[in-house]
Amino acid sequence: MRAHVIAIANQKGGAGKTTLAMNMAAGLARRGRTLVIDADPQGTASQWAAQAPDGAPFPASVIRVGGALTRELERFRPDYGFILVDCPPAPAGETVRAVLIGADSLLVPVLPSPVDLWASLAMAKAVEDARLHNRSLRARLVLNQLEPRSALTRDVGQALSEMEMPALRSGLGRRAVFRASVLDGSSVYGQGGRGAAAVAEVEAIIEEVLAL
Ligand SMILES: Nc1ncnc2c1ncn2[C@@H]1O[C@H](COP(=O)(O)OP(=O)(O)OP(=O)(O)O)[C@@H](O)[C@H]1O
Ligand SMILES: [Mg+2]
Repeated sequence: MRAHVIAIANQKGGAGKTTLAMNMAAGLARRGRTLVIDADPQGTASQWAAQAPDGAPFPASVIRVGGALTRELERFRPDYGFILVDCPPAPAGETVRAVLIGADSLLVPVLPSPVDLWASLAMAKAVEDARLHNRSLRARLVLNQLEPRSALTRDVGQALSEMEMPALRSGLGRRAVFRASVLDGSSVYGQGGRGAAAVAEVEAIIEEVLAL
């Protein structure tokens, strides 16, 4: 086995990195052994998984790793089908650099506003640098907190079309169930019918990433 490694990063705080990482992990865990590496000193992904009751653990393993991430990724790779790395909201520094050297894909969640899109430009630079060592790295924006039933505004469409990094066709809507599922240490997959629309969004993202 050699895990598909998906890094999730954006220097902007609150863009949805941990939400995307944990929900994708729950979906990927149905396909193969899945690990979440919590590379954020805030430890949000670890705290999330720790909310789960004894009888219903979070469906993927979540571990905290600080430093030496390129080496740690190689160490875990043979034991998993999928590894997601939840990066800290820091300018592309040592952590993100190390992760991008070992990753197959990078996802950059971003809120659908021009200013948030501009803030993610720094990630495009980090990808350019990482490609010197990791030529096959694939990088995509993922729109998060899309308003239900409303198309992208013209401003956002315009800003998107000017970005160097392409966006996935699929994104995540703004849905209360994404917030609620954190409290019981599960994901939208654990919310029954209430989570169905959110699950469909996460599944579409997973299928798109696996086909990149
Ligand atoms: N699609 C969504 N619908 C509703 N709420 C969301 C959605 N995505 C994220 N949130 C909420 O927005 C907040 C920020 O999300 P999250 O913690 O995933 O961002 P982050 O990028 O990991 O933040 P940080 O930079 O601090 O690590 C959280 O309260 C989360 O529950
Ligand atoms: Mg986070």
